[in-house]
Amino acid sequence: MTSHNQEQPVVFSATAPSNIALVKYWGKRNIQLQWPANDSISMTLSSSNTTTTACRTENNFDRFTMANKTITSLTNPDDKVFRHLNFIRSQLNLAGHLDLTTQNNFPTGCGIASSASGFAALTLAATAALVGNPSWDALEMAGVTRQTLAHWARQGSGSAGRSVFGGFVQWTAGDHPEAQTITEELAPDHWNLSDVIVVLSDAQKHVSSSEAHLAAWASPLFKPRLAGLPDRLATVKKALNERDLATLGREIEVDALEMHAVAMTGSPAVHYLTPDTLNFISWVRTERRAGHLPAWFTIDAGPNVHLICRAEDAKIVATHVEKNWPQSRLIQDQIGRGPQITIVGPDKNREPLRFSIPELLENNNHA
Ligand code: DP6
Repeated sequence: MTSHNQEQPVVFSATAPSNIALVKYWGKRNIQLQWPANDSISMTLSSSNTTTTACRTENNFDRFTMANKTITSLTNPDDKVFRHLNFIRSQLNLAGHLDLTTQNNFPTGCGIASSASGFAALTLAATAALVGNPSWDALEMAGVTRQTLAHWARQGSGSAGRSVFGGFVQWTAGDHPEAQTITEELAPDHWNLSDVIVVLSDAQKHVSSSEAHLAAWASPLFKPRLAGLPDRLATVKKALNERDLATLGREIEVDALEMHAVAMTGSPAVHYLTPDTLNFISWVRTERRAGHLPAWFTIDAGPNVHLICRAEDAKIVATHVEKNWPQSRLIQDQIGRGPQITIVGPDKNREPLRFSIPELLENNNHA
């Protein structure tokens, strides 16, 4: 292995966006292998993101700081962050511990997919720091393609795999766990859609989506949902291709409500929708019918509502919501290009490569 002759460790930073699912991933066929019950498709966002920094440390443990709270792999060895770092090291066949810090620029755990951006950013920052290179091309030369990184990210949180790409991204379940694929179906420039996120409550959810995925199988509505999804996915993809917002909107509303119906009829039953959510979506439909609100809703595992609309209508939508729902808080987002990995700090002008690519290839049993 190349010697570390630099005095100060290089700090790698990954900024990964959240994504909003248009056809939701709900239910797992295999928990360990993160094999989803169904194919899903999402839109990668642009502004709602997580930034994670990672640098190598001489310590014999990992350290992770989020919102001024620090945990280590000594004190919290079972934390999913440290389990994920162990997984990445084993995939790369590289040793070395990391110091990490992370920050979300939006509320956490209330249906704005913080685990998606969080595990995407963690995977990218940790991989870049372990390999010693933030360049996608260099990682790819080492056998760590974007597709590979997406699969590593989804091991941390399923939806995170889709955040490794920009635009409209499909995660296909395949007919066995290894046949899963994550692909950019349509580039971000294909259709400039906005997501006006209406935060009705930023209270953390009581039941994580990981737990709720398991409860889905007991719902009598789950099998009918799965049976109908191939048709819905085909309709959604056609609507995206043709930029047909009315069809897309109708499908995403049904999909979100169906997912929540499965959650509420599972065992244990999980309720993410609040009275405010229900009042709000009913208002959206009334206003849309009246021609005042050119937007369609979708809702992840939380009480908050994403209004999908054409970018040119985002202002009208936001203004109309602000006027009628002054108690809500809006986050204006739109389709985005995917994550970025860079070098930060005083070391940014240094040569970042700490392991030569052939050396990594030799060590990398994944490629
Ligand atoms: C409602 O990806 O958070 O956002 O794989 O257990 O971490 P885990 O679940 P997670 O589930 C996301 C569910 C969803 C729909 C979606 O993003 O497709």
